[in-house]
Order: sequence, then structure tokens, then C-alpha cells
Amino acid sequence: MKKTVTLTFSDGSPSIELPIEQGTYGKPVIDIRTLGAHGYFTHDPGFTATSSCTSAITYIDGDEGLLCHRGYPIEELAYKSDFMEVSYLLLHGELPTADQKMAFEQSIRHHTLLHDQMENVFRGFRRSAHPMAVMIGVTGAMSAFYHDGMDNFNPKHREIVAHRLIAKVPTVAAWAFKFNEGQPFVYPQNRLSYAANFMHMMFSTPCEPYEPNPVLARALDRIFILHADHEQNASTSTVRLAGSSGANPYACIAGGMASLWGPLHGGANEAVLHMLDEMGDISRIPEFIARAKDKSSGFRLMGFGHRGDKNMDPGARIIRETGDEVLDELGRRDDPQFKIAMELERIAMDDEYFIERKLYPNVDFYSGIIFRAMGIPTSMFTAMFALARTAGWVAQWNEMLSDPAHKIGRPRQLYTGAACREFVPLDKRGA
Ligand code: ACO
Repeated sequence: MKKTVTLTFSDGSPSIELPIEQGTYGKPVIDIRTLGAHGYFTHDPGFTATSSCTSAITYIDGDEGLLCHRGYPIEELAYKSDFMEVSYLLLHGELPTADQKMAFEQSIRHHTLLHDQMENVFRGFRRSAHPMAVMIGVTGAMSAFYHDGMDNFNPKHREIVAHRLIAKVPTVAAWAFKFNEGQPFVYPQNRLSYAANFMHMMFSTPCEPYEPNPVLARALDRIFILHADHEQNASTSTVRLAGSSGANPYACIAGGMASLWGPLHGGANEAVLHMLDEMGDISRIPEFIARAKDKSSGFRLMGFGHRGDKNMDPGARIIRETGDEVLDELGRRDDPQFKIAMELERIAMDDEYFIERKLYPNVDFYSGIIFRAMGIPTSMFTAMFALARTAGWVAQWNEMLSDPAHKIGRPRQLYTGAACREFVPLDKRGA
């Protein structure tokens, strides 16, 4: 028998019976969709206990430290798969066969170039513009290049959008960096892997030969996998909400990037490095921990905590190991910042405040240290995240639009403003 829950009211109003739905895993959800007809809404600012959609893409059990994409644990994907395969999996629901993988990679390669006119969009920014500002602007501007004839309800059109975005966003990110540096834009090299091609566009110049280090390229590819999707977080929900109105998908992904940029979300990797820079020395860790515990300071330990994960995120564990590989490859084990980070991690994880609140280091805590060791500047960290998360965003957008019954997202509110009142003409208003 299907489980239900009954809402009863203290004033004797008729009770309401609501169905309880159970997904494959996770907490059961109370389906409240009929509440409006009974004259009630629910109130849950920040969506702390509200499921906003059904999804078959990613499952996180924060208490158990479990993260799966389409049923495959992240540990298996990170070590046995590659980013192209994971992107295909997110998008199509199954791992590709060898032929499907080859066709997918070919399609991605086919789309890596940006329209030549897009160079002008980059050149419209001031030279010092933050790479995320440039990425948001340029990705949004793609909507001007790919709009007419686009039918969001045509699966083939959606597939082209997804391939274009996965292919072009690395070029956009690398060019945002080159523009900051005042170096010429580097065109994609389709003989290289996805991650190696990105390194080539970031670090090669016309003056010297450049060959991406395969150990670093593999590590970067794994970091991309670890950032590819994380179910209904702020940026993914932004993409879904924007896309629910049938808006141009390139503009929707730019919206997701804007949400990601915030320091409480994907901007945390940049904030972690600023925090470590500010600390400067292991001796100052206790001072920062004390500030993080003091609510009046407004300061949080960046790279710690996660809405969904109340155990250590498996992705964070893998990225930590990847960091070891990268620092070994580069001979940078003695990096002073790395030492501060490791000591901060040790002290915080031993501290009652962080233990009680289940505040563990998240992926962003480690990624910045690895990026910096690879020569990627701090201002580019969130752009790296956006690049990889594009695969998840397009998969979630596609999933939403594949459901013919999907509705435009339209949250309700608890209005606390003035009651209706009469307009007072200007000459009758008091000082
Ligand atoms: N440092 C110090 N205290 C913290 C931290 C932190 N990093 N994170 C949470 N807390 C405390 C809060 O003050 C609160 O304490 P209280 O119960 O005494 O009031 C408690 O832990 C719960 O915090 P909430 O803000 O309610 O947790 P929420 O789930 O809303 O926030 C968030 C999650 C935004 C990630 C938060 O942990 C945070 O701000 N972390 C730092 C920023 C960060 O690293 N963001 C990246 C997240 S990963 C990602 O988005 C890709």
C-alpha cells in the first residue's frame, strides 16, 4: 500500500492527505503539489528540505559519503573512466560502447572552435576582467550565434547544444585567461585529448613548442570528472529554472555560471586560496579557526562544509589523492601553501565545532592547490569548475526538457510587506 501523510490543523479545518513518494534511494518525499488547491503553500527558503524535480542523473548520500552518476560510484568513474565518457554517461544515461564513444569524441572535436566573430566579444572586455565575467558574457553571447531555428523540444537540437557547449567552453575559458595575460588566443588542437587540449590552449604560445605533460593531463581529466555534476545545487537549479521557461540554452548555461561564481558555491576554490594567502603561515591557523567559529565575524573557513554532504564527499577524497600525484609529479611537496592547507585540514577535522556540525573539507578546498601547482592562476579556478560542470548542466537541462510534462519553475512566497493601502499624492506626503 502506498504510504501517505495526513496534515491536521489545530483549528479543526479538514485534514489533508498527501502521498509519499520513494525514489531509487534517498529520503522519501511528501508530494505537496495538491496543497495549493487546499489553500496552502509550504515555506522552505533555501530549499533545505524541498525536492525541486525528479532526476535520474546523480545521487548523493551525504551521510554515507556516496556520490553516483547514473548508478556508477564516482570512485569507479574517476579511476576507470575519462571525462568524455562521463559526459556521455551524464547525457545519455549509459556508458558508451567503443563506437559510441568514438562518435561522441569526434562530435566534440568538431565543435571546439569558436565562431570567428566571437573574438570581438572577448575584445570588448577590459583587459583585467575576471575570467568568470568573461565566461558568463561570452557563453551568454553564444545565444546570439545559435538562436534562430533552435527548437528546445527537438532531442537532436538539444544534443547539438550539449555537444557544442561541452566542446566550446574549454576554448572560452582558455581564451578568457589568454585575454587577461595579453597573449594571443590559441586555437584548439583536435589531435589532443579534452584535458590536454585545454592545457595546450592555456599554456602554449606561438614562440615555443608545447607538449602537455600526460600525468598532469590525466590528473586534470580526473578533476573534470569530479566536478562534472552534483545534482540540484544552486547553479544546476539556476540552469533548470532559467531553462524551464524555454529560454535559449546558451543563455541558461551563462546563468548557471553566474550562480556558480559565488564564494559559497564554485567561487569557494578561489576564496580558499585567498584565505591561505592571507594566513601566510601555519602559526596563524588557530586565529582563523577562532574567527570561523565566531558568528559575529561573518567569516567562514572556505572549502569546508556542504549542504548535501554531512560526511566527507568521496570526490573530495579523490581530489586530495590527485593532488598528491600532481605535487609529486611537479616536485612541489614542500610547497608552503600545501603545508598550511594540510595543517588546517588536520586542525579543523580535530576541532569539536567542525566535528559537531559535520563540516568536512570539500572538493574546492583541494582543487585550488592543485590548479595553482599546475600554473593556473587563482582567478581561473572557478572557470575551471564551470568548464567541467557544463557537462552536468547540459545533462540536467536536457533531462528536464525531455519530460513533456515539465512545468515552468515558479516558486511561491510568504508575503510580509504592507497591506493594501491608498496611493498618497506627492504633495500630500509628509516630510
Ligand atoms: N566555516 C565555519 N562555520 C561553518 C561553515 C564554515 N565553512 N560552514 C557552515 N558553518 C556552520 C554555520 O555557521 C552553521 O552553524 P550554526 O549551526 O552554529 O549556526 C552550521 O555550520 C550550518 O551551516 P549552514 O550555513 O546552515 O549550512 P548550509 O548547508 O546552508 O551551507 C555551505 C553550506 C554554504 C557550503 C557552507 O558550509 C559554507 O558557507 N561553506 C564555505 C563555502 C564553501 O566552501 N562553499 C563550497 C561548497 S561546495 C560547492 O558548492 C561546489
